[in-house]
Amino acid sequence: MNVPEKRVETRIDPYVDAYASRTKGLKASAVRALFAVANRPEVVSLAGGMPNIADLPLDVVGDSIADLIRRRGPQIMNYGSAQGEERIREQICEVMRLEQIEASPDDIIVSCGSQQALDLVTRTFVDPGDVILAEAPSYVGALGTFAAYQANVVHVAMDEDGIIPEAFRAATIAVRAAGRQVKFLYTIPNFNNPSGILMTIERRRQLIALAEELDVLIVEDNPYGLLALDLPPQPAIRSMDSEHVIYLGSFSKTFAPGFRVGWALAPPAVLKKLVLAQESATLCPPVFSQFAISEYLSTWDWKGQIDKFRSMYRERRDAMMRGLIDHMPAGATWTHPKGGFFVWLTLPEGFDSDKLSARAITHRVAFTPGTAFYADGLGSRSMRLSYCFPTPERIYEGTRRLGETLREEIELRATFGLVDPHLAIEAASSGGPASTTLPNHDF
Ligand SMILES: Cc1ncc(COP(=O)(O)O)c(C=O)c1O
Repeated sequence: MNVPEKRVETRIDPYVDAYASRTKGLKASAVRALFAVANRPEVVSLAGGMPNIADLPLDVVGDSIADLIRRRGPQIMNYGSAQGEERIREQICEVMRLEQIEASPDDIIVSCGSQQALDLVTRTFVDPGDVILAEAPSYVGALGTFAAYQANVVHVAMDEDGIIPEAFRAATIAVRAAGRQVKFLYTIPNFNNPSGILMTIERRRQLIALAEELDVLIVEDNPYGLLALDLPPQPAIRSMDSEHVIYLGSFSKTFAPGFRVGWALAPPAVLKKLVLAQESATLCPPVFSQFAISEYLSTWDWKGQIDKFRSMYRERRDAMMRGLIDHMPAGATWTHPKGGFFVWLTLPEGFDSDKLSARAITHRVAFTPGTAFYADGLGSRSMRLSYCFPTPERIYEGTRRLGETLREEIELRATFGLVDPHLAIEAASSGGPASTTLPNHDF
């Protein structure tokens, strides 16, 4: 009997022809790709965005969760509502009141982190090829979600006050003139990830007035708003209009990301769609986590805890600012975040932060190259530096190592005549002026 020869599979991935076309836009996040090396103990990582939750009252949280299981285990370990548990939705209203939002628990859907809320919003609104406007630079995780739904991201320029209203108008008009629909404008008005920029209240008013005039929905992503370091929490865009805004919130930075609890506050018709999307995605958001957070909010001084986080991040932010002033070469500029986790550093013409990231690792410091935060390949002269996780001393040391990396690059470029030699000489000693530079986007 002839036994058929076993076919030898030569392709690395035998399913390569089977994947959905929407997977073609997906690529490994630059941030994640860096994690493996950046997390080595000898490297100072200014690359990640992990909240520093070591100061949480872990014994109190542990005891209250144990008690919760004993008292209500059968309920909190079961399936729950697709919209989320009522008690936590009421508490979320209290949290949002700190940013002047008046909302009903009925208009909230709880999600598996605000990342999932963004996913639900995108799957609800976006067909392949639809346009999403996004401020530039923008959160890498949002760009990943938009790519997964095959959206066409059009960036809108921002300056140190946030999105430029005229750029928003021009982009909307241009997209519509091309016969396409703008599905929404995505913005992180508080301490933008990655730039740290805070949108001024005046800009928020202008933006919402324009959204009403142009009839464009705004998706306001706000995980960092309560981590304002030099000022009180700012009024959310959602506090100025309830019809044109989907607001996304999260407990990841004000409590702990491991519970994976975030939410969306949406106009009633949109909310119904999001609940249906949630049912098909996960049946319901994590019930156990919602109860754990509810318990924390009702038994612990969570506002006092946020104040502790603010002091801790303020100290870290200040260490980074000192380090940049002391160690950056002339020609480098950077933002001065008033909250959140991130600084955006921009280098003179000709520098490439993607290439520099490998050199930085040899100097035992890691950052995230700026191109990760643009859908259109811009940002190569910039990098995101995060100050949320390392100690202030390590942050300062990280900026020193980054300065060393940049000086080495400047010297190399000067050797090959690629850089103004004065820059190289100044670079040996000076700290650069601090200001904001963001690449321009004209649609
Ligand atoms: C701007 C922004 N949006 C959303 C998220 C996702 O947060 P969550 O943990 O709530 O999913 C992050 C996390 O870093 C973020 O920076």
